[in-house]
Amino acid sequence: MNGITDRLLKENTEAFYVFDSGKLKQRIKSLRNRLPDNISLCYAVKANPFISGEMRDDVERFEICSPGEHEICKALHIDSRKMVISGVYKTPSVIEAMVSDGDFEGIFTAESITQYELLCTLSEKYGRTLRVIPRLTNGSQFGMDETDLEEVIKGRTAHEKINIIGIQFFSGTQKTSLKKFRRELEALDRLLIRLKEQYSFEAEELEYGTGFPVSYFKGEEFDEDALLQGFSELIEGMQSRPEIILELGRSIAAFCGTYYTHIVDMKQNKGQGYLLTDGGMHQLVYFGQYMAMKQPFMSVVGKENAVPAAAWNICGALCTMNDIMVKQAMLPDIEIGDVLCFENTGAYCMTEGISLLLSRELPSVYILRENGELYRVRSTFETRQINMPEYERMY
Ligand SMILES: Cc1ncc(COP(=O)(O)O)c(C=O)c1O
Repeated sequence: MNGITDRLLKENTEAFYVFDSGKLKQRIKSLRNRLPDNISLCYAVKANPFISGEMRDDVERFEICSPGEHEICKALHIDSRKMVISGVYKTPSVIEAMVSDGDFEGIFTAESITQYELLCTLSEKYGRTLRVIPRLTNGSQFGMDETDLEEVIKGRTAHEKINIIGIQFFSGTQKTSLKKFRRELEALDRLLIRLKEQYSFEAEELEYGTGFPVSYFKGEEFDEDALLQGFSELIEGMQSRPEIILELGRSIAAFCGTYYTHIVDMKQNKGQGYLLTDGGMHQLVYFGQYMAMKQPFMSVVGKENAVPAAAWNICGALCTMNDIMVKQAMLPDIEIGDVLCFENTGAYCMTEGISLLLSRELPSVYILRENGELYRVRSTFETRQINMPEYERMY
């Protein structure tokens, strides 16, 4: 246990998250090292808004999908030129406020013809040239299909103030199959070539949400080096040559996060060991966790190397039978007051919980900087998602 964690554990009697900015920056470097040089990174803020400010200078773009995310990024002093205003529905009044704000210089995605027309109308109303990337659907409610996208490209010259700089495509999340990436990239390549041939449209950029995976559970590790190498070869084999901007959320954010929760009660019920914690499913959600059947990477603080002694069902404090975080976790000898530490919880884990159920508190959130400074960005019982703009320096 390092000194800071030790102090945090003494001070916090409730569950909390720590996001390690140094680890985050290392992760971004490590991704870049394994991808082609000319690839840019766009961070999907939804994965974890708290850490957006930490990577202000480390990524080229931020994908923003809601008015709240925009407020957070503004308060964290993220340059609007780095913002891509995305999201399936853009509230007209919010978009109008952005377009009418002379200081705002972000890019907009267009997810439907209606939303594209909104941008056309606003660009004319305020006499501002807008950079736009229509989003191609992956077969869900997001984006538009090829026919609509072609209509937009074909008719683009009718809107003087709309500058279509490329297209956006989001594939899905936790994607591990190189075969699927190949199919997708070949289809995108064909589309870009066709748009050039038929409509003289040369995309400057392809913003591509690849959904690179994260391994959350024991036994589900995968070979990330091989995946990134194969992916890089596919990108290098494309015939069209747009700038590639990879839009990543969990792959950037997951590894910097740790969730700590205290054991508050222990019992044996009909031969089953139950551990009650002060956290729970409202504060910790793992993608792919099914009825708590999988074993996340976790340990008991200070007993990391101790021999497993018994199986426990790790439960949260919510008064619902669903609040089980892990079933049959093998743990060393434990006692009330011990702390469980869950790894790889930097993306979505904290925000995807059903936080209103049972009216319990949100977890405190800390950011640890590389120089050892620790900031509290939200304390328990604070209902705002993020404590802004001033972080509370702890040590
Ligand atoms: C448009 C878009 N880009 C990027 C992401 C981030 O996905 P991931 O966290 O899997 O990288 C999402 C997630 O929903 C998305 O909708």
